[in-house]
Amino acid sequence: ITSALWIALGYLLGSVPFGLVITRALGLGDLRKIGSGNIGATNVLRTGNKPAAAATLILDAGKGAIAVGIVHVMSGPQIAHWAGLAAFVGHCFPVWLRFHGGKGVATFLGTVLALAWPVGLAACATWLAVVGVVRISSLGALAAAAATPIWMWVLDYPNLVPVGLIMTGVIFWRHRQNIERLRAGTEPTLRRKL
Ligand code: G3P
Repeated sequence: ITSALWIALGYLLGSVPFGLVITRALGLGDLRKIGSGNIGATNVLRTGNKPAAAATLILDAGKGAIAVGIVHVMSGPQIAHWAGLAAFVGHCFPVWLRFHGGKGVATFLGTVLALAWPVGLAACATWLAVVGVVRISSLGALAAAAATPIWMWVLDYPNLVPVGLIMTGVIFWRHRQNIERLRAGTEPTLRRKL
């Protein structure tokens, strides 16, 4: 029962939609009606407010890392994996937004950084390398998500691979529209408006 409670705590932390909270608090408009309509840092950037986007990225990543950190200390590493996954799921499918949440990228990066920092750094580096070249946030996210289970294996965290594969699958699922736009060549770059 305690394990279930820690996992529930992870979900609840993850389900706080910081992008919505911050844009509402700053009066930046309805994020759901801007750009892709997503609640993540990339879409907050489309409001034109860079500090708000940075804060969204840090807080959405931080909630995943904090969920892992708290549960690791209180209940050990094994439950921390599942609490991290729960935080990620909470971001993507938050009860408060009738399960219509974000695409999970920042929370994924924060969770993985906290579970295994070398893998987290490799995931962030993958995102940065791809976005540095193509300037498309979603393509960086898909590349980082696809690479992460491989990084987990290569960097010697084989026990994380199941959680990694689930997160990769959910990230691809949540990016269905982005994938369609990428195939059609209409996905906006970070410079161009959607
Ligand atoms: O983090 C989400 C990103 O990969 C794509 O966001 O708003 O361009 O769909 P968006």
